[in-house]
Amino acid sequence: MRKKIVAGNWKMNTVLPEGEFLVKQLEFLTKEMETDVEIIVCPPFTHLATIGKLIKDNGIKICMGAQNCADHESGAYTGEVSVKMLKDVSCKYVILGHSERREYYGETSEKLYKKINLVINEGMVPIFCVGERLEERESGRHFEVVSEQIQEVLYKLRGVELDKVVVAYEPVWAIGTGRTATSDQAEEMHAYIRRVIASKFGEHADIIPILYGGSCKPSNAAEIFLKQNVDGGLIGGASLVAQDFIDIVKSF
Ligand code: 13P
Repeated sequence: MRKKIVAGNWKMNTVLPEGEFLVKQLEFLTKEMETDVEIIVCPPFTHLATIGKLIKDNGIKICMGAQNCADHESGAYTGEVSVKMLKDVSCKYVILGHSERREYYGETSEKLYKKINLVINEGMVPIFCVGERLEERESGRHFEVVSEQIQEVLYKLRGVELDKVVVAYEPVWAIGTGRTATSDQAEEMHAYIRRVIASKFGEHADIIPILYGGSCKPSNAAEIFLKQNVDGGLIGGASLVAQDFIDIVKSF
């Protein structure tokens, strides 16, 4: 049985009091809730220490992740945040290779491989994002693109390391556009991702959670989550509205 996960990527949204309020709303909504879904919030860096403490002190049933990390352990890297720093403020997860980071900040597979190692070595869980652009899908190259993204990073790991990874499939054309992949498109790619991983790692591929991300909302989550190879969602916009986010969790 694979872990079910719904993670909220807040991106560069909210100031700290808004973030704290959102988490308090999530606390209220999850208090009486029975669920086997791991609920994760990934606020901006400036919020992590405070929100980490808020979650811990109040026994809130959600986990916290960061949206990125440095590709070095420590030292003279002005402006960067290390995995040790993230762990210290109670982060369990780190999103890596989000298409926005690949596209706007030149994040390469080489960098991502360094980061994924640091995250795993620190005992944290990387949420490794892959996904094709619109023109790549329209030219029929989407499987090839996603396969390359996986091979360039995940194939370099050992099986025991891979077991720590969560993959998120986020087609770039579906992110923030309101245009969701159909549940069949998601399942087709998720099953493909699992096959690509299996061809190198065998049965390790069976236990890896693969999340869908891209305009996922309460109205479409249930259909997508019903698919065999979809183990949850990485939610952007809808994770900023507590009720919507929890409705997505309840879609399982
Ligand atoms: P939206 O849900 O806003 O489309 O964003 C998805 C995403 O990029 C999550 O990481």
